[in-house]
Amino acid sequence: MAVVEASGLVREYRMGTEVVRALDGASLTLDGGQFVSVVGPSGAGKSTLLHIIGALDTPTSGTIRVDGTDLAALGDDEASEFRRRRVGFIFQFFNLVPTLTAWENVALPMLLDSKSLRKARPRAEELLGRVGLGGRVNHRPSELSGGQMQRVAIARSLMMGPKILLADEPTGNLDSRTGAEVLDLLASVAHDEPDRLVLMVTHDENAAAVSDRIVTVRDGRIDGRPA
Ligand SMILES: Nc1ncnc2c1ncn2[C@@H]1O[C@H](COP(=O)(O)OP(=O)(O)OP(=O)(O)O)[C@@H](O)[C@H]1O
Ligand SMILES: [Mg+2]
Repeated sequence: MAVVEASGLVREYRMGTEVVRALDGASLTLDGGQFVSVVGPSGAGKSTLLHIIGALDTPTSGTIRVDGTDLAALGDDEASEFRRRRVGFIFQFFNLVPTLTAWENVALPMLLDSKSLRKARPRAEELLGRVGLGGRVNHRPSELSGGQMQRVAIARSLMMGPKILLADEPTGNLDSRTGAEVLDLLASVAHDEPDRLVLMVTHDENAAAVSDRIVTVRDGRIDGRPA
């Protein structure tokens, strides 16, 4: 089943009198149960595409359905609800809260959902075990390695049980060996639940080996596909 259906996406940014076309008619269908890598030159529109799929940004024109939801039809509150529950985000610089422990960082999405931190703790610890950090639940980010911090971020992205994980250069700040471990983890996360999609923007040369599919973005379009 298609988890992402994008058709003719255009995203223009107005900078004073100039208009930048970050996306120029991008069309794409992605099924669940896959680990998909998005590659392409710098400035091609990869992050913009990821942000639109995650309802962090809206297209100037075109249609986008994610997990059965027409994102254009969402109001502000519905969009933030969609971001909190239906997608998980993983970034290059981990975006952990430095004053919180590993399990508290993982539990954070529940707190935003008006659940108590204490109630969320068992699931947070279970997810830390899932990413190989069962022995680090009380460590703060400064007490973790880069690869471990990214594992915490992956566990956090799974907290609300989203069908879609969106990762923007998750290995960009890691050495190649640690990066390879994170890639393996993301691939297993994509495959361990039916219909889950992990969509990753990357410049990592090792990505091809672990991805089920590679999508190339060039000049704001999906390469090899008509707009
Ligand atoms: N908020 C913004 N305002 C103005 N222009 C933007 C904005 N965001 C992106 N752009 C422009 O849109 C184009 C696509 O940017 P995008 O960040 O999607 O590229 P990218 O493929 O992710 O590149 P990289 O590999 O360097 O991260 C670029 O020319 C960029 O300068
Ligand atoms: Mg980018």
